[in-house]
Amino acid sequence: MPILRKFTLADLRAARMDGRKVAMLTCYDYTTARLMQEAGIRALLVGDSAANVILGHESTIPITLEFMITLAAAVRRGAPKALLVADMPFGSYAESTRAGVKNVIRMVQLSGCDCVKLEVTARHAALIGKLSDAGVAVMAHLGLRPQSVNLLGGYRTQGRTANEAQELVRTAILLQRAGAAALLLEAVPPQVSQAVVEATEIPVIGCGAGPACHGHVVVTHDALGLTPSAPRFVPMLADLASPVKAAFADYLRQVESGQYPAAGHVYEMSEEELEKFSRDRSRVPAVAHRG
Ligand code: KIV
Repeated sequence: MPILRKFTLADLRAARMDGRKVAMLTCYDYTTARLMQEAGIRALLVGDSAANVILGHESTIPITLEFMITLAAAVRRGAPKALLVADMPFGSYAESTRAGVKNVIRMVQLSGCDCVKLEVTARHAALIGKLSDAGVAVMAHLGLRPQSVNLLGGYRTQGRTANEAQELVRTAILLQRAGAAALLLEAVPPQVSQAVVEATEIPVIGCGAGPACHGHVVVTHDALGLTPSAPRFVPMLADLASPVKAAFADYLRQVESGQYPAAGHVYEMSEEELEKFSRDRSRVPAVAHRG
């Protein structure tokens, strides 16, 4: 069902209250955003996973703020009624609270996103407070934080020990108090997300975090079978790679065999103009052939 009116943070909060689960997908371009909105997807994430699936990098670290702004603005144009969350990329809020606020405001103003997502620890409470004071909705991303892959020592499930799990719940409470509007938990055991849901009052979106979360997000390219492999929590919604590759191979065959372009693919001239053109051409001396 297409979305009839804009889905807002208030709707996300209401969904948490009413127990309605929210389906969120990553999106990086105008056309896909339009299709997602038409399909009724109410929440879109312009994730820095664009670094992997759009730009072909091994990690999310190389993507820039300018590129993320460009993608988020395109998605905004394609899905004006969706709740649009834009990722702040690696380094864009690391230098200082002041620089972080400046970069987030730039993202919000230039892309038109409704919310920004930051991969955070308890040490980001001050930044979240400042952003919230400035009127920015922040989704605090906890658990596996891919931008810290070098610090975490790989893409590993987080919160697997009792200590880590407790720390995660404490951080979630702290960041809610600091002003976070929502949480995103990536790659944590379901008991941990359940505990975070129980300890907080803001919407919790899960990405490989089990059923207790109020909404779920996955990388669209993974779910559509467009990536060579996907994490085990991703639902396989389709295998688009096979039909897309078959279509490319068919185009190759049509061009190489001369089947394309056929009569129906060309622009025509009127008989009268054609005749005139042939007459004019016969009067122009042929260009001497060199060599
Ligand atoms: O960048 C991204 O796509 C994300 C999701 C995996 C949560 O942050």
